Amino acid sequence: QKAMQGRDFLCMSDYTREELKEMIALALHLKKEQKMGVSHPILQGKTLAMIFRKSSTRTRVSFEVGMYQLGGYPLFLSSNDIQLGRGEPIADTARVLSRMVDGIMIRTFAQAEVEELAQFADVPVINGLTDLLHPCQVLADLMTIQEYKGKLAGLKLAYVGDGNNMAHSLLIGGAKMGMKVAVASPEGYLPQAEIVAKAQAFAAESGGEILVTTDPVEAVTDADVVYTDVWASMGQEAEAEERARIFQPYQVNEELVAKARADYLFLHCLPAHRGEEVTAGVIDGPNSVVFDEAENRLHAQKALLALLL
Ligand code: CP
Ligand code: NVA
Repeated sequence: QKAMQGRDFLCMSDYTREELKEMIALALHLKKEQKMGVSHPILQGKTLAMIFRKSSTRTRVSFEVGMYQLGGYPLFLSSNDIQLGRGEPIADTARVLSRMVDGIMIRTFAQAEVEELAQFADVPVINGLTDLLHPCQVLADLMTIQEYKGKLAGLKLAYVGDGNNMAHSLLIGGAKMGMKVAVASPEGYLPQAEIVAKAQAFAAESGGEILVTTDPVEAVTDADVVYTDVWASMGQEAEAEERARIFQPYQVNEELVAKARADYLFLHCLPAHRGEEVTAGVIDGPNSVVFDEAENRLHAQKALLALLL
């Protein structure tokens, strides 16, 4: 566990397959013990600053409750309330927070901002979502798949929808773990070529496979896991109407999931919009594990905090 102490968690590509496995195993262990009534006050006296430039339910609550359960103290810092929102430089914010807290989690727009924060901070920085990536979510997603399927390598994960943060982190995380990751997005909304290339390189090492297509049926055929996300992400509200039209053929509905394996799992990072990216029949149906997935944010974030802090 020492090996991960002090490191940042900005993108899953910075961690080896073994390290990611260790995080998932620890998350499953903490979950099991917590349900048996065992407490884990391993971060007593430690503090985590949590900077939010965007809304959050799961990320905020999982980190906040997770720190409390580990015996530490979380500080919720909305960018509307701290000087960062009034133009204090990110580098100064990083240096000041580093003098007072043991770790910083940030949710923001630009990945470059998270990287700058990490560059100037002396304490671990955790990416709580950017426009580019959402690695904390994928840690919980991989944990959920491991929990239900008993393995990751060799499984086919199909992501249908916008090729942005969720698609990117699933490509990288899935590829690292030896999964077959298939992404289907409309033309113009495909995942970034640079991320796809990285995922392909990881897949070549791990025995995974990467498929990027505009055809949702091709992606979902024989999938073990079907994943989708909102059509208009935070910050894209003005494009919602146009996106609803463009993404309509990418709705995850009963007809599409009929192409997946009979025992497929449905995952969604949430928040979900029933009748848009997914039908109620699918997300509230027997193959959906979205609320276990949401709960696993807590356990996965605790594992991450325990290892890094
Ligand atoms: N999935 C996720 O990150 O949810 P929040 O936006 O509620 O944190
Ligand atoms: N793609 C979504 C994920 C929310 C957890 C967004 O960025 O808003």
